[in-house]
Amino acid sequence: MCGIVGYIGKQDAFPIIINGLKRLEYRGYDSAGVALLNGSLNIYKCKGKVNDLIQFTKGKKLEGTIGIGHTRWATHGPPNDINAHPHTGKSDKLAIIHNGIIENYAPLKEELIKRGHSFESDTDTEVLIHLIEEVMDKEQVSLEEAVRLALQGVVGAYAILVVGEDNPRKIVAARKSSPLVVGIGEGEFFIASDATPIIEHTRNVVYLNDEEIAVIDLENGLSIKNIQNQDKAPFVQELEWNLEMLEKGGYDHFMLKEIHEQPRSIRDSMRGRLNPAIGNVRLGGIKEYKQKLVNAKRIIIVACGTSWHSGLVGEYLFEDLARIPVEVEYASEFRYRNPIIDEDDVVIAISQSGETADTLAAINLAKSRGATVLGICNVVGSSIARVTHAGAYTHAGPEIGVASTKAFTAQLTILTLMALTAAESRGTLRRSRYMQLLNELENIPEQITAALKLEEQIKYIAQEFKDAPNFLYLGRGYNFPVALEGALKLKEISYIHAEGYPAAEMKHGPIALIDENMPVVVLATNKSAYEKIVSNIQEVKARKGRIIAITHDDDTEIKKLADHVIQIPIVAEPLTPIVSVIPLQLLSYHIALLRDCNVDQPRNLAKSVTVE
Ligand code: AGP
Repeated sequence: MCGIVGYIGKQDAFPIIINGLKRLEYRGYDSAGVALLNGSLNIYKCKGKVNDLIQFTKGKKLEGTIGIGHTRWATHGPPNDINAHPHTGKSDKLAIIHNGIIENYAPLKEELIKRGHSFESDTDTEVLIHLIEEVMDKEQVSLEEAVRLALQGVVGAYAILVVGEDNPRKIVAARKSSPLVVGIGEGEFFIASDATPIIEHTRNVVYLNDEEIAVIDLENGLSIKNIQNQDKAPFVQELEWNLEMLEKGGYDHFMLKEIHEQPRSIRDSMRGRLNPAIGNVRLGGIKEYKQKLVNAKRIIIVACGTSWHSGLVGEYLFEDLARIPVEVEYASEFRYRNPIIDEDDVVIAISQSGETADTLAAINLAKSRGATVLGICNVVGSSIARVTHAGAYTHAGPEIGVASTKAFTAQLTILTLMALTAAESRGTLRRSRYMQLLNELENIPEQITAALKLEEQIKYIAQEFKDAPNFLYLGRGYNFPVALEGALKLKEISYIHAEGYPAAEMKHGPIALIDENMPVVVLATNKSAYEKIVSNIQEVKARKGRIIAITHDDDTEIKKLADHVIQIPIVAEPLTPIVSVIPLQLLSYHIALLRDCNVDQPRNLAKSVTVE
């Protein structure tokens, strides 16, 4: 996914932009470029990484206190120097960078060609800057007005920054469905796709809303209009995060840091929301919709990837504890299959980034059908956080590693709080059971700390299985979604094919795969189906499968059967996934490390998929 950084102020723009683009590298990209304004417009761009851009600019004219920079994740046109951003119009006096997709760029391009425009690149972005330039020349309007008028004819997603030689003290920004944040410094402004390039300069930020156009002008500061030309007052927020949270904190990778942060991130996700002493759960963000949730005839959970797996755990939680029917949907399927959505439905959209295009589209569909939509996001001010009726932030802190870890367990924490809130109001739980779960939930960070102490044993196990061509992950009940999550973690960072399955499904096909080359990770912490899990393990053993079992530390049976036993602290079954996923996160991390994979930025992946 593309990264955007802009600067306007009193310092040299180039080093600030380059450093900012480096902070956005986790988003995944394949080319980079900058445009610097210093009387004239100087543009430098190339295929490759930010370091390649730095090499490319050696000896070039880099002065200027206004500039925009971009890292491109190719959507239209292959990664190459020409398709890299920034792009210019006919006159080369305007430059644009863009994150998103202009869905109607082809007809727009055809019309522009008929009117004498020619194009160098394959990108949709180049069409946009030609459009803006044409409006500016024809209507003789300001740069920001030309941007506003041009965007009225655009269909799709955009976060753009535009600079122009004739506007030497101004940056124009606009967004729709792709995020943009403006950082407000002392006589200087920072604009970026998210807060990570901004936070070391200022914590005062304004998140632009959809269809807003911002003018950042050294004389007049920041002003915002919407696409209908109505003034919008900037809403300044103070970021909770600081730079340390963004650094690796002494760990080799962001992913490992984030795995080890989970006791804190879960504590932060519960902070101010859980008081077991008085049996109280308080989710302030959904207060006005609590009754809607409690009285819901059905809950539909929409998400993608790991967030979809936490949604599956949510299904068990809401049905088991609150007796509310739940359906869990891949957002990408839900948005296109013309689903039946009722006004009494409560939709819960789960997203770490809060910017996943499919999840956003599913939300808009549900809202258009009258459903109440609650969000569970990790990024304050993100698109999903703003388009949902209400929601609860996970407060896990910035998750930089592409493989989601602490966001997953923080999502499970919020879902548990929601399910307990509904259960308590609906009277579907004995008071004693409710209080027990609250007390155990409060203690979960300590249980995770204990599970993290298994890392050395897991590193050792990783040695034995690092070259396995395939893995099978099996789980029952609450642990079935964890099996899926463990398989996703392994495949996305180690590139080993892995499948998660309900353990009982083995005999309906997957058992044909079992032989001495197939490692089978079995989540075996269920008290309710213990004997059945033991027999599943025996079935695998009988076919020479190599078994890695995750059990509770009071288990006696399974340790006799499994090749490796990882014993985690005992917790109540509904809370098991928050702890049983920890060894799977560590196992995937250490196997990937032994395979020299790029753990934080796995190939082909982006941290947030803001395009379809
Ligand atoms: C998980 O490790 C992956 N990075 C991916 O599946 C991710 O969970 C998915 O793209 C959804 O992202 P979101 O939570 O930001 O919406």
